[in-house]
Order: sequence, then C-alpha cells, then structure tokens
Amino acid sequence: MKRIGLLTSGGDAPGMNAAIRAVVRTGIYFGMEVYGVECGYAGLINDELIPMSMRSVSDIVQRGGTMLRTARCLEMLTKEGQQKAVKTLKNRGIEGLVVIGGDGSFRGAKVLSEEYGIPTIGIPGTIDNDLAYTDYTLGFDTAVNTCLDIINKLRDTMTSHERISVVEVMGRHCGDIALYAGIGSGAEIIVVPEVPYDMDDIVMRINRSRANQKHSNIIVIAEGVMSATAFAKQLQEVTTYSVRPTTIGHVQRGGSPSMQDRMLAAQFGNKAVRLLKDGIGNRVIGIRDNHIIDMDIIEAVSMKKKFNFELYNTLQMISM
Ligand code: F6P
Repeated sequence: MKRIGLLTSGGDAPGMNAAIRAVVRTGIYFGMEVYGVECGYAGLINDELIPMSMRSVSDIVQRGGTMLRTARCLEMLTKEGQQKAVKTLKNRGIEGLVVIGGDGSFRGAKVLSEEYGIPTIGIPGTIDNDLAYTDYTLGFDTAVNTCLDIINKLRDTMTSHERISVVEVMGRHCGDIALYAGIGSGAEIIVVPEVPYDMDDIVMRINRSRANQKHSNIIVIAEGVMSATAFAKQLQEVTTYSVRPTTIGHVQRGGSPSMQDRMLAAQFGNKAVRLLKDGIGNRVIGIRDNHIIDMDIIEAVSMKKKFNFELYNTLQMISM
C-alpha cells in the first residue's frame, strides 16, 4: 500500500492528536504517503484532504482535540454519501483508510470495508469507553482524570457547607465514566444506566454516612440516566441536607492527554498502519488484558458492552 488516508470522526477525545501523529509517522516510516481528511466523513464526501508530513504532526502529541477537526456526519449514513466518499478515495488513489472515532464512526468504516472493499482500520477514540471489544478507548482516561479534578474541588466546598453534590458526567448510554470517576473520587454513590437506582437506598446511605461523622456526599450520575438537575430535584424532596447539581459537560472532552492515552495513541496508530502495510483491512484496534489487539470490524461492532459489576460492588463496599 503506497497511499493511505486518515480521519477523526464523531465526538473528539484527548489523544486523537497523538494517534494522528503515530499514524502519519508510521506511514512515513514505511515509505507511504499519508493524507489527512478534514472534518471526518464530511471531508471525505466533500474531498477535503491535506497531505501530511513528518513536521505537520509536530507539537501535537500533548494537545487535546483533533488537528484534523471532526464532525458527526449524517450524509455518511446514505448510499449517496457513501458513494461520494468512495469516489474521493478512488480519485485520490488512496488504498487504505484509518478511522479514529467511536461506535458511529466504526459503522461508517464497516460500510466502507464491507460494501465497497476499501481496507479500513478503526482506532477507538471516544471518552465514553462504550466499545465492548476493547478494555479502554482513547480519551477515556483523560476524561475521567478531568472529572476527578472537578469532583475534588466540589468535595472541598460540599464539606464546608455540609451539602450533597450531584455531579453529572458524560458517557452516552454507558456508565463507565461515572463508575471510574466515582471510585477514583471517593464518591459515596454512583448512578449509572446499567443499574436501576433506588432513592430510598440512596437516602439511607447518605443518612448512614452522616451518622458516621461524614460532612458531605458526592453522587456521580451518568448522563444516560438523567440530568444532575433533575436528579438533585428528586433527591431534595426526600432529604433535609442541601443538594447542589453540577454538570461537568464538554470540559471532560478537552485537555492534554494523560500518559495512558498517549501510550494507547502511539500503539493504536502504529498498529493500524502496520496492518495496512501488510494489506490487511477491515479490522479495529484495541487493548485487552494489557495487550494491543486487532479484530474483525463486523464482529467488533456487533459485540455488546458488559458493565463491570465487580467494580460497582467494590464502590458499594468502600464508599461510606
Ligand atoms: O461520545 C462522546 C460524547 O461526549 C458523549 O459522552 C456525549 O453524550 C456526546 O458526545 C455529546 O455530544 P456533542 O458534543 O455533540 O454534544
């Protein structure tokens, strides 16, 4: 393979830039030409491509966001959009494509490989950690660390005022950000889409902690359940402690990637290009049990994410 393309798609995630750098540099290492597609699949459909060089990816390893920009592209769901995207690739002589993104982006990649025979490799880039086939997605670790930083600050003020903080984190339908941020911050309670909540039990846990000299409570709620404001309103009706909602929002999507995300980015990007170099497409890269893996894209997107109940139970036992 002599010429490959690269795009970032869907919501951005810290570490996407580091992965772009790894893809470009590995491609150049193997004597390939690498083209960056701007604004995800929309750029592919509209033929917005830029040649990438060793230096065009300098000074980005530490930056959040994506230098190629990104978009959620509804046109890629249509036959017409897909055909335009394929036409761009053919006209440009691009023989293989790397797609960095989440679930929706992988569906586009699956169509390109399965229906149009374009060798495509998916790199999991999303803060949500909602892809079943990989233990971690790129950006998750940084996003959770950002949440921890904010929850630490909330704990200070909640303790001073003896309040309850309800903190909403992202994750779409997945509770992993809430789970990890909850454990890492010492939150007393997490509310996730995977486990139905019981308000009586939550109030009991709060009262028990207060009886044991605790002066504040943190409840981390995943956006997939409801908003922090709505939950705080429900809780305030059944407790005399003062409740305050906070929505962390898009802050958790930005920022310099953590060591873990930079390491994943380097390895994911490198592996993706090594597969293309060997003429292998239609795969996604991931990490399982600390090993970088690749698997069939169709199989990967059809897998159902399992919630980590062991971690959930750990939180229940140690947060009081
Ligand atoms: O998929 C990443 C994510 O940040 C989700 O956690 C969240 O639900 C969604 O994207 C927000 O999307 P947008 O940035 O388009 O509002």
